[in-house]
Amino acid sequence: LMHSNSENASLYVAQEIASLIRQRQKQGKMAVLGLATGSTPTKVYDFLVKFHRKEGLSFKNVICFNLDEYYPMQPDSIHSYVRFMNEHLFDHIDIKKENANIPDGTVSKEEVKTYCENYEKKILNAGGLDIQILGIGRTGHIGFNEPGSSMHSKTRLVRLDRVTKLDAASDFFGQENVPSRALTMGVGTIMNAKRIILMAWGEGKAQIVQEAVEGEIRESVPATFLQHHNNCDFILDEASASFL
Ligand code: GLP
Repeated sequence: LMHSNSENASLYVAQEIASLIRQRQKQGKMAVLGLATGSTPTKVYDFLVKFHRKEGLSFKNVICFNLDEYYPMQPDSIHSYVRFMNEHLFDHIDIKKENANIPDGTVSKEEVKTYCENYEKKILNAGGLDIQILGIGRTGHIGFNEPGSSMHSKTRLVRLDRVTKLDAASDFFGQENVPSRALTMGVGTIMNAKRIILMAWGEGKAQIVQEAVEGEIRESVPATFLQHHNNCDFILDEASASFL
């Protein structure tokens, strides 16, 4: 689905999320959201905060799971995704803190496997992800599932691609400061979501969006696995859709 600009596109995505939350409220159920970081979803979060303030949209019945976190990473670091989510969303809405899940970048190497298995269990126990929102990296990664990730991969500790570290370099004041690893939901975790919304803005994403949508399905471009999902939308602006 192409929108004239990322503002309109983000409004559409925020409205989809808000309508799921309201629908679940009427049913007396929790809405289960899969959330993403990066520059791409920030306007969606701005709109959700606005709906909370102006329209009284409540997040008390929302449980959410973020895709990924750098590893190791302290939650109070300026680079942590915990900090990012607090700043862009959680600090401004009425979500219960215990319902806002982000992979924990402080777990020890010994505990990481069990931790990741428990993250998966928690998603399942919540009833599975109703909507997973995604950005896309230049390597074709979704979450931090870099080239080589299998279609059935689950939450785990991964190594970041050189290109991904390069793209994160400015945030970290130099490539050498970017962590080499991350915790991420797997491709399989993402594929289990009932609905997937991938967003991409700008001409810098045009090439990888074309690969993801029209390319042969393969591990070297993990986003191509989304072609197998029966309820996945790519929400694009004119520039990111320009090679399609
Ligand atoms: C990071 C995140 C991804 C995100 C990607 C794209 O690698 N872990 O989830 O999709 O960056 O970032 P941006 O949205 O800033 O282009």
